[in-house]
Amino acid sequence: MPTFYLTTPIYYVNDRPHIGHCYTTLLADVVARFRRLDGDDVLMLTGTDEHAEKVIDRAKEAGVSVQEWADRNAQAFRDAFAFMELSQDDFVRTSEDRHKSRASMYIQKLVDSGDIYLGDYVGWYDPGQEEYVTESVAKAHDYKSPVSGKPLEKRTEQNYFFRLSAFEDRLNKHIETHPRFVQPEARKNEVLGRLRQGLQDVPVSRAVKDDGSEEWGIRMPNDPGHRVYVWIEALCNYLTVVDTPERRQYWPASLHLLAKDILWFHAVVWPAMLMALDEPLPGCVYAHAYFVAEGRKMSKSMGNFIEIDQLRAYGERYSVDAVRWYLATQGPLGATDADFAHANFVDIYNAELANGLGNCASRVVNMIHKYFDGNVPDARDATVHGGVDWPHLTAGHVQASRNLFDQVDLHGAAHQGLAIVTAVDGYINNTEPFRLAKKITGPDDPQCADLALILYNCAEALRIASVLLLPFMPQKAAAVLDMLGAKTPGNGELEAHANWRGEFGLKTGEPVVKGAGLFMRADTEEAAPTA
Ligand code: MSP
Repeated sequence: MPTFYLTTPIYYVNDRPHIGHCYTTLLADVVARFRRLDGDDVLMLTGTDEHAEKVIDRAKEAGVSVQEWADRNAQAFRDAFAFMELSQDDFVRTSEDRHKSRASMYIQKLVDSGDIYLGDYVGWYDPGQEEYVTESVAKAHDYKSPVSGKPLEKRTEQNYFFRLSAFEDRLNKHIETHPRFVQPEARKNEVLGRLRQGLQDVPVSRAVKDDGSEEWGIRMPNDPGHRVYVWIEALCNYLTVVDTPERRQYWPASLHLLAKDILWFHAVVWPAMLMALDEPLPGCVYAHAYFVAEGRKMSKSMGNFIEIDQLRAYGERYSVDAVRWYLATQGPLGATDADFAHANFVDIYNAELANGLGNCASRVVNMIHKYFDGNVPDARDATVHGGVDWPHLTAGHVQASRNLFDQVDLHGAAHQGLAIVTAVDGYINNTEPFRLAKKITGPDDPQCADLALILYNCAEALRIASVLLLPFMPQKAAAVLDMLGAKTPGNGELEAHANWRGEFGLKTGEPVVKGAGLFMRADTEEAAPTA
């Protein structure tokens, strides 16, 4: 069984999660679900990054210990991911021993190999972001943080450095010879552009302050007077979690998912660290863009973050699967930001879910009840009908799904399942089974067989559509399969279940069940649900 290891960023626990964190982990979840269905041995990892200074600061403000603050927020991330039905196989916290001990080991290895050395550093530090910015960036922003606008601090320190500059040629070569290593294309070009300006060594430690707060985080293994810079330690999480005899086969990761804000660390710093550690590099670093809220960048000062409680309210009103669908299909997967806008949510919900999948499923099941006493009708052997070659059409969408998932094109993949639903709707409109039913004089009327064929084709196509939609809407797609009396596929069963009238195809005479409305139509005027 091929392995597929995929990761999300590990999120800071200074604050509670919001839509952005859920978005990246949802993308990973959808990919993981598809890969499991298609037979891969999947390991999906998400988690929390806990040793940042801002975590210490927030805990102090709140008057609790750092550990308690981290515990509280790590739990908030777990709860958010549970509500979104995210199926991570592991959740790592950098405060765990399994991470700390191995991260220290890697750093020691880099010290031993000379890839980490002691030197002086003078630079512009952005305390909010916990990173130094280059002289040119500092100048361009009037020596203020490009992110928060707060003043940058000039700092001089004796630091350990990672010899990033030594890997410039190898990195360039790797990116050029592995076209899928950095995606999307626009991001790859951005990285190549920055690489052309040359690479400088990066600080990986800071001298320890003597105020007690330094117990948080990890020390340089060769020099306890220095604390390891949080980014260097955090990146190691992807490897620490699989660096065990049971899990080693998962490395290298197939896919690191993240957003554009942290692309440089993932596409340049981390691969160089891996080269220095003599580890193979991940298959793809995929950096999506940002969600904005009702057309505006989300920020603390604007107070317009879409919080988990608001997503929960959407989940209660429209279903969690509708939230998943909206995020996965309308989100900032490509190079441009995407808007979470209530009016757009309602439009998509109505068009694709209530009037799309939901209406199609109830239409088909209701007609089977009305005309065939609720049992799957007899389809004879004809599969090409009403101008549609159903086996061919469905197989095409199954294959397209696979290809699109390979490209991390989740928007495209989502629309493969939906395209089958649209084809069923079109087929019903063309063949008009409801009109045909009116013309039928009795059970021996030859038109009866046509009606049976039409409804069989609709139901079987809908079954395959639901199989393709499962990774996006695990509850609702399974509900459609239940209505049709079909089994929900398990791991590795995509091929068998996606087969037209195959082993898991609908069987003549089996009952179909009228479901409670899958998605209630929404009023376009209704206000956004609030927490
Ligand atoms: N702790 C670091 C990551 C270390 S990984 C070794 C960090 N944490 S974070 O909490 O700031 O999370 C950043 C990530 O959250 C982004 O890369 C992205 O995955 C997600 N998002 C945060 N805000 C977002 C949006 N507005 N929109 C979409 N995703 C965003 O950086």
